[in-house]
Amino acid sequence: MRADKFPIGIIGGTGGMGKWFASFFRQEGYSVQISGRNTGLAPRQMAEVCPVVIVSVPIAATDAVIREVGPCMPHDSLLMDLTSLKEAPVRAMLEVSVSEVIGLHPLFGPRVASLDGQNIAVCPGRGERWLPWLKDIMEKNGAHLVEATPEGHDKMMALVQGLNHFNTVVLGLTMAESGVSPEELRRFSTPALRERLDHLGRIFAHPDLYAHLIADNPHTDKFLSLYGKNLDELRGLLHSGDMAAVTKMIKSMNIL
Ligand SMILES: NC(=O)c1ccc[n+]([C@@H]2O[C@H](COP(=O)([O-])OP(=O)(O)OC[C@H]3O[C@@H](n4cnc5c(N)ncnc54)[C@H](OP(=O)(O)O)[C@@H]3O)[C@@H](O)[C@H]2O)c1
Repeated sequence: MRADKFPIGIIGGTGGMGKWFASFFRQEGYSVQISGRNTGLAPRQMAEVCPVVIVSVPIAATDAVIREVGPCMPHDSLLMDLTSLKEAPVRAMLEVSVSEVIGLHPLFGPRVASLDGQNIAVCPGRGERWLPWLKDIMEKNGAHLVEATPEGHDKMMALVQGLNHFNTVVLGLTMAESGVSPEELRRFSTPALRERLDHLGRIFAHPDLYAHLIADNPHTDKFLSLYGKNLDELRGLLHSGDMAAVTKMIKSMNIL
């Protein structure tokens, strides 16, 4: 099959990640069909025309879209999603389709210039024909693929996204309630704080996405309990004035 004759369909191809991957696959010589709610082919037509269909819609809409397109995918085709959580979408894709299934989670956002050096989580669902094609095209562009079960992936994302973004949101809320204006904060900011504010800005720009990343992952809650325990413990030590114990606690972070 010639690459330039091989159409790839991206449902949600008018949005951030969908547009990014449409451009990526076009640069690789594939023809790409994109759709949004009011543009492009309907899911059924997408399945008829494209041997590879990628679902890249908001988390809350993913299940319904998979249930619409999945039953229309032929046996030898590939149904894949880009959702940031993997257990529910991969389960749904396997349930409603007979096609090959891969859950993909690009561990980056649409602001990156290329795949070079980026991590991508892959959750193989069903079939063996399409996985080598996918790995090859991603790896030859410099991506690092990390394979996981959907459950293993979501457990990792409870830390990488759930806890991480929760922490940033709490920081943002606290700064917003501090009584210090954003302008004043910027005037006194260090490079480290400016990095944090940039992260806050990205979350603030996509509240719906980040709300789902935190709330829809059932594995996040146990890390939030651990977070609360560490917060209380560190605060207790600060109040006690035991600086040696505070230093010891900071030194016990052995993740670096
Ligand atoms: N953004 C990130 O940093 C990032 C990173 C990794 C993975 N992801 C994942 O990528 C997926 C897409 O995220 P995104 O940030 O690209 O979202 P986005 O920019 O909001 O784009 C969403 C796309 O889905 C379409 N859409 C919205 N509601 C729909 C519905 N009910 N039915 C069908 N299509 C619908 C939109 O089309 P119209 O607006 O044209 O109707 C648009 O093309 C999500 O699953 C997310 O978890 C995102």
